[in-house]
Amino acid sequence: MIASQLPTAGSPSAADGDWLGLTGARVLVIGAGGIGAECVAGYSAAGARVLVVDRDPAALAVLAARLPGVQTHAADLAVPGAGDRVVAQALDALGGLDVLLHCIGINDRRPVLDFSEDEWQRVIEINLMTAFRVAQAAGRHMVAQGSGRIVLLSSVSGQLAHKLHAPYAASKGGLNQMARVMAAEWASSGVTVNTLAPGYIETGLTAAYLERPGVREGLERLVPAGRLGVPGDIVGPALFLSSPRSSFVTGHVLYIDGGRTLV
Ligand SMILES: NC(=O)c1ccc[n+]([C@@H]2O[C@H](COP(=O)([O-])OP(=O)(O)OC[C@H]3O[C@@H](n4cnc5c(N)ncnc54)[C@H](O)[C@@H]3O)[C@@H](O)[C@H]2O)c1
Repeated sequence: MIASQLPTAGSPSAADGDWLGLTGARVLVIGAGGIGAECVAGYSAAGARVLVVDRDPAALAVLAARLPGVQTHAADLAVPGAGDRVVAQALDALGGLDVLLHCIGINDRRPVLDFSEDEWQRVIEINLMTAFRVAQAAGRHMVAQGSGRIVLLSSVSGQLAHKLHAPYAASKGGLNQMARVMAAEWASSGVTVNTLAPGYIETGLTAAYLERPGVREGLERLVPAGRLGVPGDIVGPALFLSSPRSSFVTGHVLYIDGGRTLV
């Protein structure tokens, strides 16, 4: 059994310079896109050691130039067996694994009646199957270790019925329920599993859509906070759910949406 690097949970004090307790934590981040990159920066600033995996070597190179201490590895998670391989890579590169953040996804906006089976399957494969693959592989290690944190990027679309989002919504609703079952099965082994559900965040995933005339203004009107999100809005919640401070929090869908799902 590999000893966890996560310190014991407890009450913070003013003298506690590492309140989150992530110093030395070994973190695997899947996804170097808009949200993933910002979370990698957050983990690094909190003193964690990070391996980030993406299928896009250019995105990894940009991140490595920005954060020289971060390790990178190019891999396509949409390949059977990729979950086991990247977790093995993390164990090798980091000397263990305490935290998994899954942060990849795609969308395909069209009416339900227009989807071919292949187009539908592609979204499910990247958004849901890759999360299963890598969370199962990480969970296998963490359950044996007796500790771990798994955080998966869901979306408000897991709850809301946005038109033109059918496979995306299905993948995120499925992700939420997969995480809840993993959380129930692994809670007695000290492993927590939670999802983060952002509203619209300004990244490469949403850039083209937000540039369409009137779209940004229309979406902002739906958010009680009066603005869209930025990647930095995800970092605090991601770090908290990755830390010893959230040891009794599992199976949650945490909305990061400026109140979008309230109205
Ligand atoms: N941006 C938003 O508005 C928003 C809102 C809610 C939820 N989310 C979710 O947050 C997560 C991250 O989104 P983002 O905005 O950072 O997206 P992004 O498009 O900026 O980045 C996604 C990254 O995933 C990588 N990727 C895609 N398929 C891959 C695969 N098969 N193997 C390895 N890497 C792969 C891409 O190369 C890219 O770097 C996704 O799950 C997304 O659904 C985003």
